[in-house]
Amino acid sequence: MAVRTVYHLDLDSAKTEGAALALLPGDPGRVEALARTAPFERGRELACKREYRTWIAYLGRTPVLVTSTGIGGPSASIAIDELAQLGVHTLLRVGTTGAIQADIDVGTVIVTTGAVRLDGASRHYAPIEYPAVAHPEVVQAAISAASALGIACRAGVSASCDTFYPGQERYDSYTGYVPRRFQGATEEWRRLHVLNYEMESSTVLTLTAAMGLRGGCVAGVVVNRTRSEAITRADLEAGETHAVRVAVGAMARLAGR
Ligand code: URA
Repeated sequence: MAVRTVYHLDLDSAKTEGAALALLPGDPGRVEALARTAPFERGRELACKREYRTWIAYLGRTPVLVTSTGIGGPSASIAIDELAQLGVHTLLRVGTTGAIQADIDVGTVIVTTGAVRLDGASRHYAPIEYPAVAHPEVVQAAISAASALGIACRAGVSASCDTFYPGQERYDSYTGYVPRRFQGATEEWRRLHVLNYEMESSTVLTLTAAMGLRGGCVAGVVVNRTRSEAITRADLEAGETHAVRVAVGAMARLAGR
């Protein structure tokens, strides 16, 4: 079979060894640790270009890619499209998030079932009426992994934005100004039972659904916006660690299906 090469990820289908599953952290600095988390074995780096770092690791005989997407929809869309071109059919984002419901503690893992599409990139793949929904098998795998690990998790709708500051109604930015469109938005999402803000789920879920792939997102809560705006080092560690454990557990379940 002809070898397929993709430009941004600096990969080809020979290097990826038939991998059909991928974990997608945002941060290239988290890729190695993820690929070395048990039960992953034999992890090694395949490529590193711009924000895209890819390792391959094995769950038994099943190869899994761990590819960083960078922050936000545009760069995530490139990673998803190029991974799909290489034959990947199951993509699970693992990241961090800010909760907006009062009863969600730091360290809880949000399993996004659907996303409010406040991004721009997903509109280039499907019209805004198209839902950003996770694949039910990915949602089920993540909930089951969290439950087996004893990690608190909440499944529901996330608001997914292109910006960390105005789009998530943060006033602690350089100007402190939030355009009128976003003033009061957090209260509205809260009343509509949206659980959290993050920056990639609308792109991941719209693209994977529109491409007929299995997509999902898990994100560790690193701040509860009803209590504080500060993301402390300890809270970041708690959210990241739990999200990684749930994501790897979910992948192990998905590899068997
Ligand atoms: N990532 C986000 O996009 N928002 C937060 O509040 C925390 C992490």
